[in-house]
Amino acid sequence: MSFLLLKSLHISCAALSFTLFFLRGLWSLNNARIMRQRWIKIVPHIIDTLLLSSAIALAYTIGQSPFVDSWLTAKLFALLLYIVLGSVALKYGKTRSIRLLAWLAALAVFGYIVRVAITHNPLIN
Ligand code: HEM
Repeated sequence: MSFLLLKSLHISCAALSFTLFFLRGLWSLNNARIMRQRWIKIVPHIIDTLLLSSAIALAYTIGQSPFVDSWLTAKLFALLLYIVLGSVALKYGKTRSIRLLAWLAALAVFGYIVRVAITHNPLIN
């Protein structure tokens, strides 16, 4: 697969992942019935697997990797933080306020990841 195609796949998965996470947060905070539907538990996993696979393939193609290139290290750790905050927001948060805070923090971390992706710089300055 060409670099441009891989990058388009990566960006599309990132956009879909964000949209679904944003909506699932709203639905979960409002106890919407849609959250009990089967596809809502499956589709995000498929998209996130494609997002990560395309990330690995892209990094390999441009010859850069986490723990060597700081922007990719930052992206990887921020992704882990996004996953933890996301699971608190959608599943493990005990109160509505905790889930809301975790959801907002996860959205901010997502914004950071996109910024690092574009600037190739882990620092916000
Ligand atoms: C939620 C997670 C992620 C999001 C939202 C995301 C987003 C993006 C975006 C928007 C771009 C295009 C940047 C541009 O305009 O050039 C990009 C490129 C890229 N991403 Fe990700 N990414 C994520 C996770 C990762 C991870 C975990 C890795 C690897 C450890 C990774 C590796 C790359 C690479 C290698 C590129 C290509 C950079 C280039 O064109 O030079 N991404 N990502």
